[in-house]
Amino acid sequence: MDTKIPDIRPNYFEANYDKTKIAPYTLEDPLTFLDGRKVTTPAEWELRRQEILGIFAGEMYGQEPPAPEQLLIEKIEEKPDAMGGFAVRAQYRMRFSPDGKGGEIHWLLVRPRYAAKPVPPILFLNFAGNHAYLPDEEVVIPEMWSHRLPSHRVEEARGTRCDPNSVGHFPVALLIAAGYAVLTACYCEVSPDPHPNEPEEQFKQQNFAYTGVFDLWGKRDESRTDNITALGAWAWALSRGLDLAERIPELDVSRSIVTGCSRLGKTALLAAARDTRFAVCVPNQCGAGGATLAKRDYGENVATETRMFTHWFCKAYKKYERNPAQLLTFDQHLLLAAVAPRRLLIEGYDSPWFDTEGEYLACKAASPVWELLGKKGLPEGPFPEDFDTSLIGEDLGYYHRAEDHGLAAFDWWQLMRFTQR
Ligand code: GCU
Repeated sequence: MDTKIPDIRPNYFEANYDKTKIAPYTLEDPLTFLDGRKVTTPAEWELRRQEILGIFAGEMYGQEPPAPEQLLIEKIEEKPDAMGGFAVRAQYRMRFSPDGKGGEIHWLLVRPRYAAKPVPPILFLNFAGNHAYLPDEEVVIPEMWSHRLPSHRVEEARGTRCDPNSVGHFPVALLIAAGYAVLTACYCEVSPDPHPNEPEEQFKQQNFAYTGVFDLWGKRDESRTDNITALGAWAWALSRGLDLAERIPELDVSRSIVTGCSRLGKTALLAAARDTRFAVCVPNQCGAGGATLAKRDYGENVATETRMFTHWFCKAYKKYERNPAQLLTFDQHLLLAAVAPRRLLIEGYDSPWFDTEGEYLACKAASPVWELLGKKGLPEGPFPEDFDTSLIGEDLGYYHRAEDHGLAAFDWWQLMRFTQR
């Protein structure tokens, strides 16, 4: 430990909400390799991108889980005339071994019934259970237990996300009419997300978080600082959703979109950074540990993250909590850059905890990578007002909004506009 660098947060649960107290920091140039060489060509960028992914694997999100040896997919039902006849709805059970090791993930697919050609799938993991996204009694309720909002994964939640009064409104009929398919699964089926204050020993983060798909990856070596994390596992699951989409001829995976809200927005970003098959990435309200700069140390910070969510980040990340501005040797703009030249829209949330101004600054810092690759960077402009969408460019975009925390109709509409340009 470098004792010359002061510990700025002896009280680890304290968050800074005073912008005048943001300490000076420097951001690494995304277009400079660790050894100082400059990136000047797309081929060199791909090498730098691998270098960046290596940094995040070793220092923050843990090693990327291996692709599964087996992918057993069973279509459990299909309704050819769902949603008033406009949609085909199907459900799939995905397993990773014949004996059920690694658990199972239920994917819900809703796609337009009358599409002349394959449609782009929107992939996302959900909190509430697939059944919350359609008022349809055949949609399976996930069984995997988790303390996060347990009221969600119950019968009463069925169809609630289609209610426009819901904080996270899901305009599924409109998405289908606009020519998208949606493919979603509940994140708890992948790996449960225990609450930081879970009282029962068996359900505590250090025990329970590493169940589900983690059973595929053997016993964890606790001496390592870069073990696979829950965020890594959820991102891995999104790639498995894409594996499924590739087997469905009515879907055009070359135009696939990945989204998700909050911790599942961080997940969507990590998935797209790692898996280049995602053509467009739209992380929604992801904040710290996702799109916002950690060195700014404003709102949620490395200390609160690594203490509240021990399973989201690998042990190595903890060493930066004492003084992120001075200790970190990378920041989240590099993760955004790892999506380039594919398209990225950061949807921010105007709450100090989520420090969306830091997301805007991360987009600005990542923008030269799109430009080098012949794409359009972030449009010029100061930090915008809530609901101002003028910084949504062709390939890279940013906006933020007020009101409740959740993937709202406003956000889906921006996703549609961005992807249809
Ligand atoms: C907490 C957490 C955030 C996360 C959010 C969520 O607020 O601190 O990092 O994004 O939960 O997932 O809802």
